[in-house]
Amino acid sequence: MEWLSDLGVFFTSSAWKMVAAVIAAGGGLIGLGVTIGRWWSKGERTNLEQKIGILDGQVKQLQLDHQAEKGANAQLQLVLAAKEPEVSALKHQVAEADKRLALAKQRLVPYYHAYLKLKPERDELKKGLGAEKDLVAKLTGDVGEAGKRLVELERTLDQRQADLNRTDRRIQKALRLEGNLWAARALQKVPKFRPLGQRKHAVVSVMNLKGGVGKTTVTAHLGFALARRGYRVLLLDLDLQGSLTQILLPFDKQRQLAADGSLLQHFLSAASADKTRKLADYAQEVCSFDDSGGQLDLVATSDNLAYAELSLTLGWLLRTGERDNRFLIRKALQLMSVGARYDLVLLDCPPLVNISCINALAASDYLLVPVTLGQRSIDRVPVLLKRFLKNELFRKHINHDLRVLGVVANRTYREELTGGERADWRQLGGWCKDAYGEAVKQFDTVIPQMLKDVRDAETLAGAPDPKSKLAQLFAALAAEVERELPSECRRGAAALS
Ligand SMILES: Nc1ncnc2c1ncn2[C@@H]1O[C@H](COP(=O)(O)OP(=O)(O)OP(=O)(O)O)[C@@H](O)[C@H]1O
Ligand SMILES: [Mg+2]
Repeated sequence: MEWLSDLGVFFTSSAWKMVAAVIAAGGGLIGLGVTIGRWWSKGERTNLEQKIGILDGQVKQLQLDHQAEKGANAQLQLVLAAKEPEVSALKHQVAEADKRLALAKQRLVPYYHAYLKLKPERDELKKGLGAEKDLVAKLTGDVGEAGKRLVELERTLDQRQADLNRTDRRIQKALRLEGNLWAARALQKVPKFRPLGQRKHAVVSVMNLKGGVGKTTVTAHLGFALARRGYRVLLLDLDLQGSLTQILLPFDKQRQLAADGSLLQHFLSAASADKTRKLADYAQEVCSFDDSGGQLDLVATSDNLAYAELSLTLGWLLRTGERDNRFLIRKALQLMSVGARYDLVLLDCPPLVNISCINALAASDYLLVPVTLGQRSIDRVPVLLKRFLKNELFRKHINHDLRVLGVVANRTYREELTGGERADWRQLGGWCKDAYGEAVKQFDTVIPQMLKDVRDAETLAGAPDPKSKLAQLFAALAAEVERELPSECRRGAAALS
């Protein structure tokens, strides 16, 4: 700024005036330039002075701010001075804490060493613990499994207990039956009894609860006679003793059938287990008659039938299967295929009411009752009729359609009845009527005691000589039996007449 004032002084000095006079004398243009320069310098100066003023103001403000800051700083110094004792107290505490820390560290050193010493052991233990944990987990799993099995076992046990209770109740119920196997209601799956009108083949049970009256003998020889007459006859040996089989089949054949599983008991066991078996497939040919077209077949048995019988009875009493074992033969004999192969079925029954006997009664259209004449023998016949044919439970549960075909006298003294025999025979007729409610057919043909003929027939295989007395008597009986059958079941001479 000073140079400007110096410049001003120069322009106002006499030297300048001289120069200016020279220049002014040199030209008016330069004079105009000087005038503009002066005007410009004056404006610029004012500008600069204003700026200087502003800067001065700012400097003063800064000085004031500085003063204020100094004051604040002094204030802070005072506060700091006031906090000094507190700070030093804290420092002291920190130093104390450091000392205690150092002391604690010092105390920890032995522990640390001990730790280092124990560490491998600890690691080992940790490893062991891991294994033990695994073991515990496995054991826990095993315990869980065992628990589940226990629950299952308890459930099975409950089930078994319930089964046992049920079985117990059934045993009690069975005991209350006192052997009256017909008195119990039928289980499920009882095959329907198709009346004879719907079948062509009649089913006849040869039965008497008294033993040794000739059931087997009559079955065998009536079978021969009917076959000779043109009937295709199937015999079933339902007696545990297997007497019919022994009469009709050679011993070797019996053994072979037993080995092949082709006996009646094999059929019954299979049928009870619900296996599909045809009874006719178990039949063995005994003989056939080319002239009449008749044929005699047998479903044989052996003394092993007793075991099958026991098993079927227990199975039925304890309800182990769905099938009612009292109807196995009914189901088999009702088949149309049996009718296609046979005209008549004769069942040789045992002298007791076992499950085979009930099977026979449940399957039959008729009862044929052989009797020996004598008080102790004839009084069993009305009992038999009452027990089955007139028994409501039997009719309801076992067979509503069972009828009496007739009673045949066996082992009489002669072909003609003696006076005493005739009296028994008449008495029997009366008793049967009382028990049955209507007259029971008493066949005219009687079979006398013919020890030799019967023995011969039992030892010689095949049909007896048609000219023999035995064959002729049974031929007469067969003719009578035929007349008792409905016409659609007849095959022999009666069918033609
Ligand atoms: N008319 C007869 N003449 C001679 N002996 C006979 C006659 N009928 C049967 N028998 C004989 O009497 C015995 C018993 O006969 P059979 O076996 O036929 O009777 P059953 O009623 O079937 O006997 P079970 O009840 O034991 O089955 C047999 O030895 C048989 O040979
Ligand atoms: Mg017998």
